[in-house]
Order: sequence, then structure tokens, then C-alpha cells
Amino acid sequence: MNEQSGPRTTMCGVALTSNRGVLMTTLLKLDNVSKQYGKDSWALQDVSFSAKSGEFVSIIGPSGAGKSTMLRCVNRMIEPSQGSIQFQGKETTSMGRQELRRLRRSIGMVFQHFNLVERLSVIENVLHGRLGYKNPLAGAIGIYSQVEKRKAQDILHALGLTDHMFKRCDQLSGGQKQRVGIARALVQEPELLLCDEPIASLDPSASKTIMDHLRSITESMGITVLVNLHQVDVALHYSDTIIGVNGGKVVFRGTPDELTQDRIHHIYGSASGELIMDAPAQGKLKGEAQLAYEIG
Ligand SMILES: Nc1ncnc2c1ncn2[C@@H]1O[C@H](COP(=O)(O)OP(=O)(O)OP(=O)(O)O)[C@@H](O)[C@H]1O
Ligand SMILES: [Mg+2]
Repeated sequence: MNEQSGPRTTMCGVALTSNRGVLMTTLLKLDNVSKQYGKDSWALQDVSFSAKSGEFVSIIGPSGAGKSTMLRCVNRMIEPSQGSIQFQGKETTSMGRQELRRLRRSIGMVFQHFNLVERLSVIENVLHGRLGYKNPLAGAIGIYSQVEKRKAQDILHALGLTDHMFKRCDQLSGGQKQRVGIARALVQEPELLLCDEPIASLDPSASKTIMDHLRSITESMGITVLVNLHQVDVALHYSDTIIGVNGGKVVFRGTPDELTQDRIHHIYGSASGELIMDAPAQGKLKGEAQLAYEIG
């Protein structure tokens, strides 16, 4: 799969344009990236991996493994201590302010708790995604072009939010807020979306909607999605590639098919029977544990 895309096609039937380039070429490459916090405290150690354009990559691992640190090093919200990070072939760790600003335009971010301005409307929040293209004064007084407003509306429509466009964000459900967060990231026209536990605060139905949209974004728009997840089953279902981290190190990189039960236990540093996925389904629970509850 080395072919290049044409202009950006559609998402949920809505045409979206982009300056996106070649499909399935390497977009992001980390080489021996480490992050040290304290004297003996390494959040990341020699992390190396790459992601292609249009690839859906999930990062899984136990709490404290370094997933958020890894994601935030990519857009330099966190400064890596060592190593190289290349985005579209350019070294990011040495970028100055202007280059960093351009880099951050190309990298959208989606947060667990949405990070919206709750008292502002949906459309205003989405247009905030354009601030990286403005000089500070124009941004501050909310000068957006008709083209930008049209684009924001198209994206909201694609995400099923047309009817909510002029509502204040504090009137939305969590799932709707997360779609606004995705819309704000998409209006940036990114090449890469970083999503830090985007479904951790959502119910199963809203989680599916969000994951379906993220998958659709990779397939129809060719944007690379890098997503931190605690739900292994979700990673297995949606990903092209899964990266497992433990103790700041990459301990697995492969396809969902390659992620065996043994490897999952290795990633989480746990023995068989210790993970939620090891629990027998309700009604199948037999033996002493079941009996103890019945008697108790
Ligand atoms: N600002 C900081 N100062 C010092 N240590 C930090 C800081 N941020 C993170 N750490 C440490 O770095 C390690 C990795 O943290 P990180 O938040 O990346 O883990 P995570 O895999 O995202 O965890 P979770 O699944 O709970 O979100 C942890 O040991 C954490 O305590
Ligand atoms: Mg985290």
C-alpha cells in the first residue's frame, strides 16, 4: 500500500478538502526517545516506533506506563530528554518557535475531558481549532473567514452535530462534547490526531460512536490516529497497529492478530487470571468464589 491519495475525499458523505499528501508513507518516526523527570525517574526509555499516513495506531499499557508522556512528546507539549522525533521527515526536537507553531497546526489533539470552553457555543469551540493559523490579535477577537466557518459547519455536520451548532457546550452530553473536540481538531486540517483516552469518560454507546468516527477519519481522510486506550478489546477491534508499553518501554508492536493473550499479559505485567478480560462471563462463574457470594 504505497499509493498516494488524491484530494481528501469524504467523511460520512461530506466532502472535506485537505492538503494531505501521500498515503501510507511514514509520517511519524520516534528513535530512542527517552523522558526523564527526576534523577532516577524515566517515564520513557528508548522508545522507537513509526506510524504511516492513514494508519490507526493504539497505545496500550498499565497506568503510569508512559502512554500520555509518549503522546505529548510528539507535539512537544512535553520536551523529550533524549532521542529523535521526525514528523514528515523533519526533526521536531530542535524546532524553533515558528516551526513548532507550524508543527502543532498539523497535529490535532483530543482529550479525555474534552478541554472545551463550556460557556461558548459549539461552533465557537470548533473555530478555536483555527487559532494556530491566526496572528494573536485576529484570534483574540474571533476573526474567521467565511471559508473557515463553512468548513467548521461541514465538519460538525459530518460528526452529526448540525442541530447543536449554536448551543453552549455545557448543554451537551459527554459523547457530543467529544465529537466537538474531534471537530476542533479536524478544522486544523491535521495530518495526525493524538487522542489521549478519548473514550475513558464515555458510556459504551458514545464510545462506539467516537471510535467509529476516529476510524472513519483514518480511512476517508487519510489522517493518522494515535490513540491511548485502556480498553484492550477496543484496541483489537479498531487498530491497524497496536503498541504495548510498560515501564516506559515499548514491549510489543504488531497487528491485532499478533496480540495474543500471553502478549497482553506481558504488556500489563500480569499473570493469567489477573486482568478483566480473564474474568469468566456472568453465569459461567463456577466453584468456590460463586459459592462464597451465595452463602455470604
Ligand atoms: N510532570 C511529571 N513529573 C514527574 N513525573 C511524572 C510527570 N508526569 C508523569 N510522570 C510520571 O511518568 C510516568 C508516566 O506517566 P504517564 O502519565 O505518561 O503514564 P500513562 O501511561 O499515561 O498512565 P495513565 O494510564 O494512568 O494515564 C509515571 O510514573 C508518572 O508518575
Ligand atoms: Mg495517561
